[in-house]
Amino acid sequence: MKLLVTGGAGFIGSNFIRHVLETHPEDRVVNLDTLTYAGNLENVRDVEGDPRYRFVHGDVGDPRLVREAMGGVDAVVHLAAESHVDRANLAAGEFLRTNVGGTGTLLDAARELRIARFVQVSTDEVYGSMAAGAARESDPLNPSNPYSASKAAADLLARAYWITHRLPVVVTRGANTFGPYQYPEKVIPLFVTNALENRPLPLYGDGRQVRDWLYVLDHCAAIDLVLRHGGDGEIYNIGGGTGIENRELTRRILRLLGKPESLIQPVTDRPGHDRRYALDASKLRALGWAPRHSFEQALETTVGWYRTHEAWWRPLRSGLFTQYYDRQYTNR
Ligand code: NAD
Ligand code: TYD
Repeated sequence: MKLLVTGGAGFIGSNFIRHVLETHPEDRVVNLDTLTYAGNLENVRDVEGDPRYRFVHGDVGDPRLVREAMGGVDAVVHLAAESHVDRANLAAGEFLRTNVGGTGTLLDAARELRIARFVQVSTDEVYGSMAAGAARESDPLNPSNPYSASKAAADLLARAYWITHRLPVVVTRGANTFGPYQYPEKVIPLFVTNALENRPLPLYGDGRQVRDWLYVLDHCAAIDLVLRHGGDGEIYNIGGGTGIENRELTRRILRLLGKPESLIQPVTDRPGHDRRYALDASKLRALGWAPRHSFEQALETTVGWYRTHEAWWRPLRSGLFTQYYDRQYTNR
């Protein structure tokens, strides 16, 4: 199979490309990525010499380039996005342009080129905060921040291309993902790298918000399964099944690093902060997927990876990142 992967220089995309090339030797991958602050060719350095892999530098909102990159592919796995809630809360323009507009451009090209499978990588955040229970695919979308609203728009748009145009779309709604190569602005890599530098860990509000944590390799395996065996027009939740409070997550990270809890710094809560995410992933499990990594072990592996890959994250925590960090966290 020949795949177009968008956002393949990002966190999940780079892990996904590695997963595909390792598990499907006959596959070929085109990686279309515009290399925003979160895109990093270091994430795919190990595959760049592979003859089955090709990188195309460009924007998913560029119709001409998108058609070129999509030429001759069997399937599109669309991961490119602006992905950070706190940045969307600072300014939403890029989120609308890439997450909504870029998705529309890709869908039009996929329709025109009669692509046989379009995987829209969506998120559990489209359901909004779940006071109790676990979200099912048939639940209404109820996003509460500009990031999740932009992802909900893209999710609905992709489904609309199935309903209206019979483009064979399949949607995945993955939970909070963690693992190697995650840009150190999301909570786990941010807290691990802050702790490694003995800097405070800014815990929002009372720290009792719950996320349903999913290891990146389990997320990639799920996307791959849905790509090959998901039903046209179907939606699949990808939940890790480990719901823990942020304050407990923070303590575990510090324990794994042998750092004191005095590094935890409670700060003003995120506006519109979703209290709890939880997913019912039974539909995907029925298709044959189950997470293969326990949360405890995956967290330990991830913390260990950041500990031994300072050369990867150190450059990312300078320059523009410092500006973002000061704006986001100073006087909070
Ligand atoms: P990321 O921010 O690490 O990577 C995003 C990638 O997209 C980057 O390489 C970036 O350069 C690229 N990109 C951004 N705008 C682009 C554009 N206009 N054209 C081409 N490329 C562009 O994000 P991630 O965490 O790997 O998330 C990947 C996808 O998975 C996103 O769609 C996100 O919404 C979804 N998702 C993420 C999580 C999570 O916890 N990280 C959970 C569920 C779903
Ligand atoms: P994050 O990794 O940004 O993912 P999302 O907002 O998409 O769930 O945040 C995960 C949780 O951690 C969320 O409840 C917000 C919280 N958080 C903090 O307490 N402090 C921080 O500095 C960050 C980035 C997140």
